[in-house]
Amino acid sequence: MHFGFIKEVAMKQEKLIVGLDVGTTKVSAVVGELNSSNHGNGDLRGGVKILGIGTSTSKGIRKGVVTNIESTAASIREAVRDAEKTTGIQINAVYLGITGGHISCISSHGVIAVKEKEIGQKEIDSVIDSAKAVAIPFDREILHVIPEGYAVNGQEGITDPHGMGGVRLETNVQIVSGDATSIHNLIRSCEKAGLEVIEAVYQPLASADAILTEDEKELGVAMIDIGGGTTEVSFFRDGSFCHSAVLAIGGNNFTNDVAIGLRISTQEAEYIKKKYGCTLLTMTKDDEEVEIGNDEESTTKQIPRRYLVEILQPRAEELFSLIKEELVAKGLEKSLNSGVVLTGGGVLMQGMDVMAENILELPVRTGSPVKNGEHAGVIGNPCYSTGVGLMLYGAEEFSPDHSYDKDDHIFTGAMSKIKNWMSGKF
Ligand SMILES: Nc1ncnc2c1ncn2[C@@H]1O[C@H](COP(=O)(O)OP(=O)(O)OP(=O)(O)O)[C@@H](O)[C@H]1O
Ligand SMILES: [Mg+2]
Repeated sequence: MHFGFIKEVAMKQEKLIVGLDVGTTKVSAVVGELNSSNHGNGDLRGGVKILGIGTSTSKGIRKGVVTNIESTAASIREAVRDAEKTTGIQINAVYLGITGGHISCISSHGVIAVKEKEIGQKEIDSVIDSAKAVAIPFDREILHVIPEGYAVNGQEGITDPHGMGGVRLETNVQIVSGDATSIHNLIRSCEKAGLEVIEAVYQPLASADAILTEDEKELGVAMIDIGGGTTEVSFFRDGSFCHSAVLAIGGNNFTNDVAIGLRISTQEAEYIKKKYGCTLLTMTKDDEEVEIGNDEESTTKQIPRRYLVEILQPRAEELFSLIKEELVAKGLEKSLNSGVVLTGGGVLMQGMDVMAENILELPVRTGSPVKNGEHAGVIGNPCYSTGVGLMLYGAEEFSPDHSYDKDDHIFTGAMSKIKNWMSGKF
């Protein structure tokens, strides 16, 4: 693995990191700089500063999955060029976000006998390896193995067993895996766009870096990213990721419902939805009207805004009911003390947060990746949480404070497997 342009700039005591979010509706490339002198100077966290963003309209992606490699590569190229123009930096390597209905998250348990006097990295690696030893079909790739915590001699709740004495070490891990072909196709699209993929990262793990606080993750929180094609719901508690699911409903379903219900084009439906959309009839007034039919000027007409809301409300109810089912199925409803954080472009629709609160029966806030500073106006939009998060995820790996011990070891394994798979070296 090598690190493209990042290597070059490292000589100048700077580290530049790029997060690439290839979404269903837009591609965004977020460029950040990791430099300890950034502290207190508009930095996000840990000395990371956003230098700029490039975006393009996404083509060739459906519900997070590549349907046309050439079109996807062209959209990626366009977003990266845009970022290069904005920041004046040449981009060769990226942290890439992965999502889609093919992603699955399973928990697994590992246990080993400790022979040494105290637990070291070797023991931690081997207990994680034992948890990883579950049957994963050959057409799937493990993206992440995330330890939720450890137990030493049966005592649970240990976050870092380094240096502890004991004869039995256990761990619970979350294994995030995806369909190898889907992962390969997205990496291939990046390569066609002239980019090296440093790591492929399950999107919510990155978004969490951008919008969740350590306290929220510690106390228990659900993060819901409502994108164009998919909605990811992810749960964190005791400071660690504990489950995630990808639902095949996103903002595009709302748009399609409006297009069909009002008999207008998808393009106009998207415009009307963004401008007048609302998910709660109780938030609209009886006399509010919306003009439709602007695609064909001669046939414009006024309709009550209520008609639009009557289309959007059931879809939003369906979405949050599915999320509630996931939450209940995993027995997590009692452990989300910090409630719910909504993000993604879909959260911008009026009433979404109130409906989430009503159906999930939890407090809700909207998570924005940048709250102040020069970029807050544009990059503060919740649709950039994943792009910013990917950049932060990459920055964390470069940070001098980062422990390269466990996760890197695991991830290197995952990436080399993907690379071997791509070059047919199995
Ligand atoms: N003001 C708004 N009101 C309603 N919906 C909005 C608004 N702004 C954006 N959206 C919707 O948000 C969706 C895009 O969100 P986002 O950019 O997070 O998705 P994406 O990352 O491209 O897709 P995905 O994450 O599913 O791959 C679109 O469906 C769009 O219509
Ligand atoms: Mg997205």
